[in-house]
Amino acid sequence: MRSKWAVLFAPLIALIALGFYRPAAPEPRALPLSVVFGSEINGYLTPCGCSKPMVGGIPRRATLLKQLAEKHTLLALENGDLTKAAGRQDELKAEALIEMLNAMGYDALNLGKYDFQLGMDYLRALQAQFKGTMLCGNVQEGGNPAFDAYTLVEKRHLNRPVRALIVGLISEKYADAIRQRNPHLSITPAAQQLDTLRPQIESMGDLRILLFYGTEQEAAQLAQAHPYFHMIVYAGGGDGPLPTKQVGQTRLVFAGNDAKFVGIAHLSENAPYAIARVEHTRLTEDFKDDEQALGIKLGYLARVEAEDLLAMAPRRPTVNGDTFAGSRACMPCHAEDYRIWQRTAHAKAMQTLVDEKHDKDPECVVCHVVGMEFEGGFQNMQKTPTLKDVGCESCHGPARKHVQDPENHRLGKVGEKSCMSCHVPAHSPGFDFETYWKKIEHGFKK
Ligand code: HEC
Ligand code: HEC
Ligand code: HEC
Ligand code: HEC
Repeated sequence: MRSKWAVLFAPLIALIALGFYRPAAPEPRALPLSVVFGSEINGYLTPCGCSKPMVGGIPRRATLLKQLAEKHTLLALENGDLTKAAGRQDELKAEALIEMLNAMGYDALNLGKYDFQLGMDYLRALQAQFKGTMLCGNVQEGGNPAFDAYTLVEKRHLNRPVRALIVGLISEKYADAIRQRNPHLSITPAAQQLDTLRPQIESMGDLRILLFYGTEQEAAQLAQAHPYFHMIVYAGGGDGPLPTKQVGQTRLVFAGNDAKFVGIAHLSENAPYAIARVEHTRLTEDFKDDEQALGIKLGYLARVEAEDLLAMAPRRPTVNGDTFAGSRACMPCHAEDYRIWQRTAHAKAMQTLVDEKHDKDPECVVCHVVGMEFEGGFQNMQKTPTLKDVGCESCHGPARKHVQDPENHRLGKVGEKSCMSCHVPAHSPGFDFETYWKKIEHGFKK
């Protein structure tokens, strides 16, 4: 045996000895540059998980970017709408998202119309926190640009340095929406702003990308009038990626919103550069959650709890003026219905949120308990433990008077309509009354 191995290895040993074989040389790796892009995260740090399989989320995106970074130099760009509203919770989401973008090494972020709903003071605070460049070149404050119009980023493509020019603009269509919250701002039409910038930027950089918060149609017009961009990332195309479109030398791209996909654009090998290939990666369960990004999300949830946003959720009077009694109060007289209900998914809806660590998050609790949006409805587990879970009164309405005096306070019929406040397409895409009702059917005559 021994002699056989010696015969096999002898030539190799000889080669090494002669210096023909060297172990992997530590040369600098010549990685190609790839541009990762996305539009409108809309507050989806992670998807809600109400329907399976769930797609998307920043912790999965972070994992994808780490995988890509092993074989590519990355230029990471985000286009508009970190969140979709302007409440305290959206501020906390926006801060967490900036932290996540920083952790992923994002180079630039262009602003969208909902970002402006956070107000200029808040945007300034986010800008100070962001390690990349916050762009939106056609918004003016007191006659001066409110944000940078462009940034020049140094990257490497294969063995060569590449300077990437990133321009950021918003469609003038959103001027009214922006000015409603920020009356002191003015918005120059995007095309006009580019006319002004053109002498500076036309020949700047080896690769020119426009982040445009506007539609594909508007982006196409800009590409025609300003044919020096290699790529325009646009917005407003819905939650899935759209086929890319070529206008002259410009590639128009859109990877979908709500952080479900990541767009990846690959560069031609040699200058003058062109976008050689674009792909869209769907963030399925195949991508594990990145620990650091997940940690940032848990930090956000801790702030939602610490600030007790659950207590701050607005509450309106109930339609019939009654208050809630809780599902247990129905048991003495509707024992069979109660027994059936206890076995349904509705009776463990709060535990689901506890498992997901979202049990203090008003954005989730509202559909997983009884009457959170009403006076006298669910407040929290200490004050209103009997109103946790989706209970009888989530569908039949507040019934304290009925509990006390059923003969004189009848509840009447409810039906399919009572499901629709929660089983909305975004959270229950497969909802069909006939099949769903069969799983929770009750109310038979005794
Ligand atoms: C608009 C109402 C609504 C909101 C808001 C909502 N959910 Fe749900 N959730 C539902 C409905 C309805 C279902 C059941 C969907 C189905 O099976 O068709 C569900 C199901 C789930 C499930 C799956 C339970 C299981 O065992 O299959 C999870 C997990 C969940 N929700 C978590 C959340 C989290 C986390 C949030 C907040 C980020 C949230 N939900 C916000 C209505 C809502
Ligand atoms: C997910 C919604 C939902 C939940 C939760 C629910 N119900 Fe119902 N219930 C309905 C619907 C829909 C009907 C069909 C008849 C109707 O339209 O009222 C019904 C029917 C009934 C009926 C018969 C009504 C009649 O006209 O004969 C009774 C009694 C009743 N439910 C009691 C309860 C009790 C008690 C609970 C809790 C233990 C409960 N329900 C939980 C939706 C719900
Ligand atoms: C003290 C006994 C009692 C309690 C407690 C009680 N019910 Fe009833 N409920 C009745 C009676 C009696 C009827 C009428 C039954 C019949 O004649 O069909 C009724 C009827 C109903 C109906 C059919 C619609 C109607 O008003 O006729 C629904 C729905 C209903 N109850 C839901 C509830 C829910 C939800 C609770 C708990 C919040 C509850 N009930 C608690 C005794 C009670
Ligand atoms: C207050 C919000 C709310 C209302 C109203 C509501 N649901 Fe639900 N439903 C939920 C939530 C939340 C879940 C998920 C519970 C869990 O697994 O944690 C769910 C789950 C279900 C499930 C289980 C789905 C599965 O895959 O097993 C069925 C069935 C269902 N609902 C039927 C109905 C029907 C029918 C109605 C109307 C008569 C209705 N629901 C009204 C919130 C609601």
